[in-house]
Amino acid sequence: MLLSRPPFGPAPFTNADLLDSGFYARADLHAIWTHLRENEPAYYCDPGDGREPFWVLTRYADVTRVLREHESFSSRRGTMLCIIDLSMPDFASDDMMPDTDPPRHRRLREPLNRVLTPRMVAQHEPAIRDIVHDLLRPALDGEVFDFARAALMFPMAFTGMLMGVSPERWEHMSELTTMTIAYDDPDYSVGSSQATVRQAHHELFSVFRDEVNRRTQDDKGTDLIGILRRMSVDEDPLTEHQIMLNCYALLLGANVTTPHVISTMVAMMAEHPDQFRRVRDDPELRKSCVQEVLRWSSPASHFMRYAVRDVELHGRTIRADEPVSVWLGSANRDERVFRDPWTFDVARRGNRHVAFGSGPHYCIGAGLATLAVTAFLDHLVNLVDEVELAGEVRHLASNFVAGYKSMPVRMTASADALRSVPS
Ligand code: HEM
Repeated sequence: MLLSRPPFGPAPFTNADLLDSGFYARADLHAIWTHLRENEPAYYCDPGDGREPFWVLTRYADVTRVLREHESFSSRRGTMLCIIDLSMPDFASDDMMPDTDPPRHRRLREPLNRVLTPRMVAQHEPAIRDIVHDLLRPALDGEVFDFARAALMFPMAFTGMLMGVSPERWEHMSELTTMTIAYDDPDYSVGSSQATVRQAHHELFSVFRDEVNRRTQDDKGTDLIGILRRMSVDEDPLTEHQIMLNCYALLLGANVTTPHVISTMVAMMAEHPDQFRRVRDDPELRKSCVQEVLRWSSPASHFMRYAVRDVELHGRTIRADEPVSVWLGSANRDERVFRDPWTFDVARRGNRHVAFGSGPHYCIGAGLATLAVTAFLDHLVNLVDEVELAGEVRHLASNFVAGYKSMPVRMTASADALRSVPS
């Protein structure tokens, strides 16, 4: 199953399915989300096996409300539905930017935000273009190429560079970040779900510890790890634990999302060659094309908040302390907001997608990701004339990330590519 569209058949699911990572690789989530948007916009999901129930919100207006209204919906107890018991306290609360509420959140975010503005990240454009070139070059020989597999390394390269992480560690770190969100996927699991996440966290944190410790005390490095090392919040310097948690947030934020945007772009080029011809012929369309691919792919499937007070919604009451999940992929197909939401349209106007979220936690890497995806699109339309899918497309088993683990494609190099790319 690559691309789903209505009319959908019945959308059978059980409440336990919504926690089961494997279900997300097998089922057509758009069919379920469409059903929930229409019939049960505030759905109370009780897995019925002792795990904590949670709310499922699928309409655009509710998703954006929850993400923006931090006074009513807190991030302090974690933001992802995962294997960890939802009733447990969050070990990163108030220490890791995503698991913090304003005003503390603002103080943690601002110093990092300053180096991630679109103007600041534009300085890295030449290096990012080189990374894109290296990613596409092996695909241009006309042989079958697993694009989704190769794409997993793409954000690691530019985020690793911005963080100042040694390049020889990138491949292993990319694998570890995928393990943290695809812990039940047979290609990434190393035992039980818990064991997989524990091992990935342990190894990632030990890399971050090394990277922090290899810098000297008076290191004035301007990379992201250097900035975290020198940061203070309310006059308290960040502890080693807080530095590592925020390294983790940055790397995970980049690595588990961006690959699936460019893989979707390649898949859409295969499915809609006419639309990509339009983008090639009219560079003005590149901006709207990138936004449409973000809307269509919505790689961060959901985020969580915990209600701070009782909230009435669609005739139901979300009680204080209850977990609330909001589904970005569903919001981005909401018929109430997007005209013709099931049409992939590279020239879509007024595309207010929420692939990067909304409100105070709006993706801090949005400028960097947009630059990287745009650089990728530029190279794709310049270097590739045609793409065809050349084998089975396989999805990651993850209830957090809507993404691919394998997408065999065959690319036909353009005349420009044949002239410019050394064999
Ligand atoms: C296309 C790629 C990306 C997508 C779709 C994406 C999506 C998101 C979304 C939806 C949020 C909001 C989370 C929430 O409300 O709790 C978010 C936050 C975040 N993202 Fe991204 N992201 C992407 C790329 C990146 C990159 C490249 C970085 C690293 C520089 C990054 C780092 C983060 C961090 C650290 C946060 C937390 C921000 C905060 O709590 O204030 N993301 N991202």
